Amino acid sequence: MKNNIKIFLLVIIYTFPVYADEQDRISIKTIAENCNGCHGYDGAGVGIKKLYSIRNKNYQYFIDKMTEYKTKKNSNVMNRLVTVLSKEDIIGLANYYYPKN
Ligand code: HEC
Repeated sequence: MKNNIKIFLLVIIYTFPVYADEQDRISIKTIAENCNGCHGYDGAGVGIKKLYSIRNKNYQYFIDKMTEYKTKKNSNVMNRLVTVLSKEDIIGLANYYYPKN
């Protein structure tokens, strides 16, 4: 009986992380909300001068720049940030910011 409980617990422990990973996948919109703080609402820039706008760029520029941040290692804020983003996240963000492309 005790062994059955152990096996039951092991099954839970080993299957839960997979389950959690599926459930916890962060949506592109949620990732983009993290960019708002520095790049303005929906990447539209900050203040009248639209400082740091990323909306005024384009799909390909965005992908290239984000990939560059990911491969070039320095202590720039963007370099640090993109380490947690996958290639799929970057493409998802590009589709989010430049939907017409
Ligand atoms: C803590 C502030 C901060 C956050 C949060 C942030 N950025 Fe940035 N971002 C910057 C700064 C500062 C630069 C300019 C750095 C440089 O010149 O390399 C920049 C540059 C960029 C550029 C290049 C813009 C250009 O004109 O070439 C892109 C694209 C970009 N960020 C996208 C994002 C995305 C997408 C997110 C969210 C996942 C994000 N950023 C979150 C501060 C931030």
